[in-house]
Amino acid sequence: MAAPILLEGLKRLEYRGYDSAGLAVIEKSGVVCQRSVGKIGALESELAGADWQGTSGLAHTRWATHGSPTLENAHPHCDCKKTIFVVHNGIVENHQSLREQLMSRGHRFRSETDSETLAHLIEEHYQGDLEKAVAQSLPLVEGAYGIGVLSSDHPDQIVVARRGSPLILGAGDGEFFAASDASALISHTRKVIDLQEDDIAVIYSDHHEINNLKSQSILRPSRTLAWDVKAAEKQGHDHFMLKEIYEQPEAVCNAMRGRAVGSEGIAKLGGLSGIEDEILKMKRLCIVSCGTSYYAGLLGRYIIEACTDIGVEVDLASEFRYRKLNFTEGTVVLAISQSGETADTFAAIQEARRRGSLALGLVNVVESSIARETDAGIYNHAGPEIAVASTKSFISQLTILYLFTLFLARRQNMSMAEGQSFIRELESIPEKIERILERASEIEQIASHYTGYKNFLFLGRKFNYPVALEGALKLKEISYLHAEAYAAGEMKHGPIALIDSNLPSVCVAPQDSTYEKTLSNIEEIRSRGGPLIGVGTEGDETLRKLCNHMIEVPATQEIFAPLLTVVPLQLLSYYIAKELGCEIDQPRNLAKSVTVE
Ligand code: AGP
Repeated sequence: MAAPILLEGLKRLEYRGYDSAGLAVIEKSGVVCQRSVGKIGALESELAGADWQGTSGLAHTRWATHGSPTLENAHPHCDCKKTIFVVHNGIVENHQSLREQLMSRGHRFRSETDSETLAHLIEEHYQGDLEKAVAQSLPLVEGAYGIGVLSSDHPDQIVVARRGSPLILGAGDGEFFAASDASALISHTRKVIDLQEDDIAVIYSDHHEINNLKSQSILRPSRTLAWDVKAAEKQGHDHFMLKEIYEQPEAVCNAMRGRAVGSEGIAKLGGLSGIEDEILKMKRLCIVSCGTSYYAGLLGRYIIEACTDIGVEVDLASEFRYRKLNFTEGTVVLAISQSGETADTFAAIQEARRRGSLALGLVNVVESSIARETDAGIYNHAGPEIAVASTKSFISQLTILYLFTLFLARRQNMSMAEGQSFIRELESIPEKIERILERASEIEQIASHYTGYKNFLFLGRKFNYPVALEGALKLKEISYLHAEAYAAGEMKHGPIALIDSNLPSVCVAPQDSTYEKTLSNIEEIRSRGGPLIGVGTEGDETLRKLCNHMIEVPATQEIFAPLLTVVPLQLLSYYIAKELGCEIDQPRNLAKSVTVE
């Protein structure tokens, strides 16, 4: 029976977007469909008494773009006759004109969504062959889509297609799946087939066919997912976010495995082989990314510039295209993205390639859109990150940026001894993160003192400035408390006006080359009565005395400190959000993969 499998798949995908959900199953009597607003639990309750026997179906969780999260706007959407049902990820950019044309030809719309146009468009072209109708409709669509289509006239088939939105097939034992994310089908099969742009596939219970928009048959290879269902489960933790915070020592090891060669003090990056010459000619690196991945990029700038003579720029992917960048010879663009599906980052990398730049990717999800769009790249191998708030992928991105720095620096002026010491220090990080994790209950205690505040300031200098930004983002995302981050030196240029007993400051101040200066900033806050949480080096009694609360991290070379200092900030946000009773893994308004611009 399809319904329980679809519901389970929806639950595994709930982290991606979740203001409403629905499913449709082909029964003997025709297609039955149930939708509901809110979490999957609501849909599950509504389906409690249903006795659906059908073995083919579609399901969807929605993150509202066009039209508010109402029942009418939830997927699946259907045609006028309620025979063709569609689920859609992405955006139909020309939906307004399509809707007007379709309405003028008598189609009756029931929702405000762009997605519904697809159901009516397919209905228009349908003359007995569902795949053909889909193939004839899609060229009329501008925008991005990953769609699933079924019809009561074709109970044995489901048609799926993609452009700019992820879609994979899963080959089970006598059953076949399609999903936008591998975690939806991982409990049934690890054998997947990645669909490519403009592929249309028809899946049957035991086989599939893939065609292009011209109905030419295509063969796509299958691959086995490198992780199993356990990676997509909480494994005893209260939340995926906490589980993923605890997976960080392993994430560092996985990112380094087979890449850091301690004896020679070098980094081997297999994903870049074949383009090493081009990379060695690189004079300027432009990093493009969003959110947490952007902060990883900001740190990348500090570390690459500290160890090489390559100039690094970092752009928010959403702003990248608005700059009139001069793509001089030797400009390389690096996209950083956990999901590999972020629309802004994808568009930035497309723009870079159009302008003739070499495009690299630092991506976690294998075979994702960004991974495929780039000329070469490095995978995180961090396993699936389910919580909306990124944690382990940030640590993993940083680890790879250190390796990338080593890769470049050893081809410039870094000596073998320096390279060896670089790797030794990096290799010591997982154990040091473990030591911070052992202090989780202490951090939980500290968090309990701060749940009554509404605003927070995060401060850090040099390598720890991006950490402050990331700390503030984490708190905002999961606790809905307002948090702003500043470079500590910038505080006196304005934000200091905010300091009073109602504004706690979280100061990242390990004993590094900027320590003394940051201490002065801390003194400035203290003298104005601002509550202080310090994140500092183990045994730093000076910082402890200045702050109301202090969280210690083990000592390391200053360049590597962010791998440690960010961990208490993740835990602090987590415990504040938990005490406030927030939906930690699924914060309101957010989706894991932001596939809209
Ligand atoms: C991180 O906690 C956020 N949920 C978000 O900022 C995220 O980092 C951003 O949307 C970029 O995602 P990506 O790494 O998958 O491209």
